[in-house]
Amino acid sequence: MVTREKALELFKKYNKSESLYHHALCVEATMRAFARKKGEDEEYWGIVGLLHDIDWEMFPSEHCKKAPELLKEIDLPDDQIHAICSHGYQVCCDVEPTREMEKVLYTIDELTGLVYATALMRPEHMNGMSVKSVKKKWKSSGFAAGVNRELIQKGSEMCGIEIPELIQTTIDAMTEISAEIGL
Ligand SMILES: [Fe+2]
Ligand SMILES: [Fe+2]
Repeated sequence: MVTREKALELFKKYNKSESLYHHALCVEATMRAFARKKGEDEEYWGIVGLLHDIDWEMFPSEHCKKAPELLKEIDLPDDQIHAICSHGYQVCCDVEPTREMEKVLYTIDELTGLVYATALMRPEHMNGMSVKSVKKKWKSSGFAAGVNRELIQKGSEMCGIEIPELIQTTIDAMTEISAEIGL
């Protein structure tokens, strides 16, 4: 299995922006939290989260298509590569999320963005954030307009986890690493 250290090294080779690094950490932490809840391999899910946007900064027009080539550099197993590519399903590729790990990634990629944007609006940032405050921002379509609410809804149905539970787990996971993500 590829270690987190090796994965992080690859991430940093292809991504220099701090906000992308923070996003990768958010998705990693949230994937870990869901793996724990489901009794799955936390390290395995976490690496997928950490590396999911590996090709975004340098190859935005080939997002999820260039990734396999970059991930092969560290011999990432094919099923983790498949999972990574599937987060762009119907947005930038046609790799469908079929396994549980893939459905969760698909859903929380956008959701972490909404929670992050919500935290930026609060003086306390992640501290004491409630599901309700995120839902309020969800309903305000002008807020974090780039976050695709429909996709989160679709993902929630795909993985069979209700929206409030998705939000709560994401909040908990991001609160744990708030210092590392500047919140
Ligand atoms: Fe992406
Ligand atoms: Fe992402």
